[in-house]
Amino acid sequence: MLITFEGIDGSGKSTQVQLLASWLQERGKKVATFREPGGTVITEKIRSILLNKDTEELSYKAELLLFLAARNHLLMTKILPLLQNETIVILDRFSDSTIAYQGFGRGLNVEEIQQLIEFATDKLRPHVTFYLDMCFTDTVKRLSAESSRLDRFETLGESFFEKVRAGYHFLQKREAQRIKMISGKESIETIHSFIIKELQENFSSLL
Ligand SMILES: Nc1ncnc2c1ncn2[C@@H]1O[C@H](COP(=O)(O)OP(=O)(O)OP(=O)(O)O)[C@@H](O)[C@H]1O
Ligand SMILES: [Mg+2]
Repeated sequence: MLITFEGIDGSGKSTQVQLLASWLQERGKKVATFREPGGTVITEKIRSILLNKDTEELSYKAELLLFLAARNHLLMTKILPLLQNETIVILDRFSDSTIAYQGFGRGLNVEEIQQLIEFATDKLRPHVTFYLDMCFTDTVKRLSAESSRLDRFETLGESFFEKVRAGYHFLQKREAQRIKMISGKESIETIHSFIIKELQENFSSLL
């Protein structure tokens, strides 16, 4: 089973990925988690290119293609073998991020991105996606203690993140069956319980 987490920076994805992985492991399940981009030596190198603000700014299409290059490599070397081995794979970001950030945020053509995503993922789709919905202002308040992450917000700005959020809303409406939305402002425990309930109700055969 493939489960993905989505949401703007600071919405609580990594927190929920860890809680869900622990919950599944406690029930004897084989679980693997990866952050995107990342997860292998090569994809961590690509990540450092994408997130390093000290070098020159990447062109938007180069950025898109690097994200997709990393995704394909992670898929071929880790995710697909694990899924075949009946491991539950949990991803901290996947293809929806590409449409939300590079499509809606950067303004690249969404149709073209969709085709490139299909090429890069061999059309692999998550069984379920948990989208943690939050506005820019609330995530900034939350991250004000973490200055390194606030830098990224200041660089990209409110209008960028509100476009990304609109992208997530577009995807959630288009694929309401797959993408389960919950407010990221709920407590960590409330969100975790929502996720467990969804999985127990709709995916008990896969768990
Ligand atoms: N539901 C919540 N309520 C309050 N604070 C939370 C909640 N979930 C996470 N946090 C806190 O908010 C911060 C950001 O959470 P987290 O790192 O999980 O977000 P993220 O979506 O993974 O961010 P990024 O995209 O930057 O990796 C952390 O300090 C975390 O402890
Ligand atoms: Mg995170």
